[in-house]
Amino acid sequence: MARIVRPTAYGSPDVLDVIEVPIPSPDAGQTVVRVKAAGVNPIDWKLYSGAFHVVDDEHENEAGIDSASLPSLGLEAVGVVTAVADDVRGVEVGDDVMVYPVTAAYADYVVVPASSLITKPSSLGWAEAGGLMLAGTTAAHALHAAGVQQGDTVLIHNGSGGVGLIAIQLAVASGATVLATAAEANSDLLRGLGATPVAYGPGLLDRVRAAAPDGATTALDLVGTDEALDTSLAVVADRNRIVSITGGPRRAEEGITRLGYGPGEDAGTTVREAARSALVTQAGAGTLRVIVDATYPLDQAADAHRAGLAGHPPGKLVLIP
Ligand SMILES: NC(=O)c1ccc[n+]([C@@H]2O[C@H](COP(=O)([O-])OP(=O)(O)OC[C@H]3O[C@@H](n4cnc5c(N)ncnc54)[C@H](OP(=O)(O)O)[C@@H]3O)[C@@H](O)[C@H]2O)c1
Repeated sequence: MARIVRPTAYGSPDVLDVIEVPIPSPDAGQTVVRVKAAGVNPIDWKLYSGAFHVVDDEHENEAGIDSASLPSLGLEAVGVVTAVADDVRGVEVGDDVMVYPVTAAYADYVVVPASSLITKPSSLGWAEAGGLMLAGTTAAHALHAAGVQQGDTVLIHNGSGGVGLIAIQLAVASGATVLATAAEANSDLLRGLGATPVAYGPGLLDRVRAAAPDGATTALDLVGTDEALDTSLAVVADRNRIVSITGGPRRAEEGITRLGYGPGEDAGTTVREAARSALVTQAGAGTLRVIVDATYPLDQAADAHRAGLAGHPPGKLVLIP
């Protein structure tokens, strides 16, 4: 038997449960991976928060829960291949692999399409590898959509989040000048990655203008606040080069570039898929750091989500089964 973490209702992390299921077998085109680390992302708690879901008379059961639509959790993982379908080539039992994209990775074992596997560099720790892919591909997509290149001045809101820490490093590597917002306590971390830190909160626009008197050529909204949007609109002339990954009606009204899976948003499937290999190569070579804030045992996934909701210190949260 194997453990899997899943919500039992919509709500707070209190609804998460650990249940026992049979160890899965692969169907055609699939492998099974013993999970060594699974990245935690804000989308995980948003999925069962009820934010994306309507419970109505037609769908809810006696307990008031639309159990058929409760989400699985875990969109990225790393681990060791334990089973390979007969038709899969180039993957062996015992291979250490990065697993992305995937679903239901908050588990001891996960079923993975062979196309979602990339060899894990031995130089990359399990926890770091487990937190690389979703944040990394999102950062790469955001920078691509913003057209960030040498000579740009890019303003990154939420530079200390999982996505922001990688976006800073990729932007600096591309030759851009980077300003990044974070709590004052994280200034040294951002400076160490090559960004000019700017504290968010009241007076942000003044501090950005002081740090970049000529304004910025592009901005990444990785936080979703009005403050981030208003500051970006004030310092970036071209609205197409203000890129948000956070959704919300104001982003659509202002005509900026929106990335994601909702109406009018760019999912960037091709860009994200293409970014995977380069991210793994850079992280394996040590030119891209994955900063892990904390790891949690699988059966403490709810605590990891509580930490995420509370606004954890910089870096990734990762589950270790
Ligand atoms: N569209 C997509 O494809 C996509 C993909 C990934 C993520 N997302 C979304 O993007 C957002 C960021 O994701 P993430 O994984 O980077 O989140 P995260 O790691 O959970 O971000 C946490 C950080 O947010 C910072 N923060 C809190 N309030 C802030 C503010 N007012 N201004 C600036 N920073 C603030 C905190 O930094 P301090 O400690 O410095 O306060 C904290 O370290 C989430 O909403 C997520 O759902 C979207």
